[in-house]
Amino acid sequence: MARITDRTVLIVGASSGIGAEAARQLAHGGNRFVITARRTAELAAVAAEIRAAGSACLDLPADALDPEAAAGVVAAAVAEYGSVDVALLNAGQGPDMAMDRVSVTDVSRIMALNYDVVVNYLVPLIGQLRGQPGGGLIAHTNSLAGLMGIPRQGPYSAAKAAVRTLVDTARIELAPHGVRFTTIHPGFVATERVGGDGLPKPFQISQERAARYVVRALEKEPAQAYFPWPTAALVRTLRALPTPVSAAVLRRLASVG
Ligand SMILES: NC(=O)c1ccc[n+]([C@@H]2O[C@H](COP(=O)([O-])OP(=O)(O)OC[C@H]3O[C@@H](n4cnc5c(N)ncnc54)[C@H](OP(=O)(O)O)[C@@H]3O)[C@@H](O)[C@H]2O)c1
Repeated sequence: MARITDRTVLIVGASSGIGAEAARQLAHGGNRFVITARRTAELAAVAAEIRAAGSACLDLPADALDPEAAAGVVAAAVAEYGSVDVALLNAGQGPDMAMDRVSVTDVSRIMALNYDVVVNYLVPLIGQLRGQPGGGLIAHTNSLAGLMGIPRQGPYSAAKAAVRTLVDTARIELAPHGVRFTTIHPGFVATERVGGDGLPKPFQISQERAARYVVRALEKEPAQAYFPWPTAALVRTLRALPTPVSAAVLRRLASVG
């Protein structure tokens, strides 16, 4: 396992939660960071912590829904540091959303907030990394919810599943060019954003522990990383069960019906 040191690390969605915590943990490695998110003050506070820990950091507020802004962040990273060695595409969110209460607009919005925000970075990053000596790593914070349709999280599950498929294809196509892809599937993580959403969260872990798993995935570069193991095992088991059985278990777990 290679520790991440002296590398240019881009984190999209670094103003809070798992992304901010992963940045803090990587900041002790003497890396060069480019961090981005929409909330300027929160992002600046994370940047200050990174610098205090001994790493260089450029904080660039930008909306990942804007393809030009995303391409601009990648270009600014390269202009400042010459390359992007590790990118963590972490922006996303999955609110409580039952299918009998959503509008078409809700579903499209969740798709954009979890799919478009990745695509808008994925494409310029592939262009950059395939031309760099040694390529680079593009990691995506997906979710165990992206492996199957989770009640009250349908649009989110669907969006995360779509990104996983896209990244799986990119991994195959870009391997000859040294561009590696890691999809990270956390279970429930106790971040501030999901704190009051009312969804049941079996086997929930802390943000610090989740970030340690993320950093480990960035170091080891598996194609897919799943954690924590009890939730990952539960999802794997549910996928193997006949649909009526898994549906009954999921209905119970999500307190539906
Ligand atoms: N918490 C969980 O239980 C859990 C479980 C599995 C997977 N995940 C995934 O983990 C990732 C991080 O989530 P989290 O729980 O740490 O929540 P979070 O604290 O809300 O982190 C999301 C980050 O993404 C940024 N972001 C969101 N939309 C953006 C946009 N349009 N443009 C730029 N930045 C944007 C947010 O910053 P701004 O608001 O400042 O833009 C924030 O920095 C997400 O992809 C989520 O789906 C979370």
